[in-house]
Amino acid sequence: MPIPAISRFASCVAGFLVLLLTCPVLAQPVTGVLPEEELRAIPSGDDAHGQFSYDDFQPAQQCTGCHLDIAGQWRRSLMSQAYTHHWDEIEYFRLAVPHAERKEKVAEVKHGCNGCHAPVSFLAGDTPPPRPGEGSMADEAVNCDMCHQVVGFAGEVPHNYNYLVKPGRTKWGGREGMESPHHLTAKSEFIQSAEFCGTCHNEKSPYDVWVKSTQLEYAEGPYPDMGITCHDCHMPPGHGRLAIMGAEVVDDRRNHLFHGAHHQSKLAGVVEMVMWTEHPECLPGDPVTLKLALFNGKAGHKVPSGSAEERQLWVTVHAVDADGNRYHLPVEKKGFEGEEQTITSNELAYQDMGEPLDDPDFAGLPRDSTAYEGDRIFCLPYFDEQGRRTIMQWNTASLGTDYRIAPRETKTETYLFTVPQDVPYGELRFEAVLRYRKLVKSVGDFLDVPAEETEAVVVGEADTSVEVVNW
Ligand code: HEC
Ligand code: HEC
Ligand code: HEC
Ligand code: HEC
Ligand code: HEC
Repeated sequence: MPIPAISRFASCVAGFLVLLLTCPVLAQPVTGVLPEEELRAIPSGDDAHGQFSYDDFQPAQQCTGCHLDIAGQWRRSLMSQAYTHHWDEIEYFRLAVPHAERKEKVAEVKHGCNGCHAPVSFLAGDTPPPRPGEGSMADEAVNCDMCHQVVGFAGEVPHNYNYLVKPGRTKWGGREGMESPHHLTAKSEFIQSAEFCGTCHNEKSPYDVWVKSTQLEYAEGPYPDMGITCHDCHMPPGHGRLAIMGAEVVDDRRNHLFHGAHHQSKLAGVVEMVMWTEHPECLPGDPVTLKLALFNGKAGHKVPSGSAEERQLWVTVHAVDADGNRYHLPVEKKGFEGEEQTITSNELAYQDMGEPLDDPDFAGLPRDSTAYEGDRIFCLPYFDEQGRRTIMQWNTASLGTDYRIAPRETKTETYLFTVPQDVPYGELRFEAVLRYRKLVKSVGDFLDVPAEETEAVVVGEADTSVEVVNW
């Protein structure tokens, strides 16, 4: 009698699964400011898609009237532009949506991108949301009510929009006893934590590869032990009122600056550089050894962080003789595995862009598209299933060697220069320039992304010199 045997087996398996899911020890943990049962009842991550409505979130305009100053800061930040910003619109509508519709493995990103970039639309199940500029709530990207109604996160590690939201009258902030005519207030230690930021600033690809890990990089670094959080660097305290009718002016108001790679002054000096030679003098024909130290003294995570698939940080070194002749110096190889990916090259890459663009023969684009080949580039290479470099983080099947600069880490690079026989006597200068780009230029140009996104910004400079003498 095989049938009852199978059904007995099936009910046994089903019973075991029910036990597994209801057993608090085995179910995934939750962290937050409400009692555990309440947190557990809230859907998170992909399960939260479409489980809320637009009415659960007030548009930013309803907060602006009273929180004028903070709202002005937020509007100026990328946080409010995460859906409407040119490159976000292009990448989502030209690459991610068509790719998700063609390739089963990455189908989830059609709604998944919005879990972080247009979270209110994601929670309301409006996928894909209306195009930017059509006046939907998606245009507000990460708005006030989104952050101020988060009560915790589900799982072991914050990532991929696993925040837990509880819409209602209570706006969670950093203080006790605040009174507002518009809403209730309550103190949340959770929104003051780096884990809160990590729910959107850590990301795994559909291939289970970490493609964004700003909070994880921070957690591995020295800042948590010093008591310094994301907020201290990106929401620095300053003088002001919390609201126009706020009880008092405070000196530690959390400014909503969220300034990062798109703010020149935040980037400037993020890596400190010093260059030196072993000897102060040389003769024509001599080899000169140069050392360059690069210290990440300012960022709480690796540089570059976040969308490392598209950010570029590279250093170019030149020798300049007394007549002004310039000689480009390639970096000396260290010999570690995968090093060729950390040295600028114009070989063709990013062929997988042909998948969403429906061009199977797409030849690719120059990998780094920098002025010189042979420069050190501080990067984390992302590869697709076929081992080709990709800038589509959702299509990342593996990573290369991580050669970015960790918080408070110093990397030292070496350069060798053989002084030409006919070099003029006098000062022989060496110049190092560290540049940063938000997006690989060849990719930006190909997809018509406005030039500001691919512009090379000088982040730091260093120089040193030797004297060419005539013995
Ligand atoms: C009618 C005015 C008004 C409106 C509208 C308003 N607030 Fe407030 N809010 C206040 C006042 C007043 C305070 C207390 C400030 C003080 O006493 O210094 C406050 C405090 C806060 C706090 C701090 C809570 C804490 O415990 O630290 C947060 C967060 C907040 N509001 C978020 C919002 C959000 C989000 C919106 C829009 C959905 C909003 N507010 C709309 C007046 C308003
Ligand atoms: C887990 C949250 C999360 C998911 C999911 C996510 N992003 Fe992002 N995305 C971010 C964060 C956070 C940043 C900013 C980090 C940084 O500065 O590099 C970012 C940056 C970007 C940028 C760079 C913007 C700029 O102005 O330079 C683009 C473009 C982008 N995302 C597109 C997408 C697309 C398309 C998807 C879906 C395939 C997606 N993102 C999925 C969180 C996410
Ligand atoms: C990305 C998430 C995020 C967004 C978006 C955001 N806030 Fe906040 N806000 C925070 C965090 C985090 C704190 C508390 C920081 C702390 O105390 O450490 C905070 C604090 C506040 C406070 C209290 C400030 C203080 O010093 O106690 C007010 C008021 C406030 N936010 C209003 C707003 C308004 C209004 C908007 C929209 C215009 C907004 N916030 C958007 C994350 C956010
Ligand atoms: C609901 C998701 C979400 C949360 C929570 C969140 N962020 Fe973001 N944040 C984003 C997205 C998406 C972007 C990317 C904007 C864009 O498209 O370039 C971003 C951008 C930023 C940027 C600008 C990066 C740049 O390249 O200029 C900074 C800085 C930042 N976030 C810091 C924080 C901090 C600090 C917290 C916690 C207090 C936080 N974020 C919480 C989603 C989030
Ligand atoms: C000690 C100060 C400090 C701390 C702590 C810190 N940051 Fe930053 N952050 C910076 C600086 C400086 C930059 C600009 C350099 C850069 O873009 O890498 C930056 C850049 C960023 C960027 C843009 C990265 C890119 O390359 O596109 C994001 C996103 C960001 N921070 C988020 C966070 C989050 C989330 C946390 C906490 C988990 C955090 N930061 C902690 C100083 C800090």
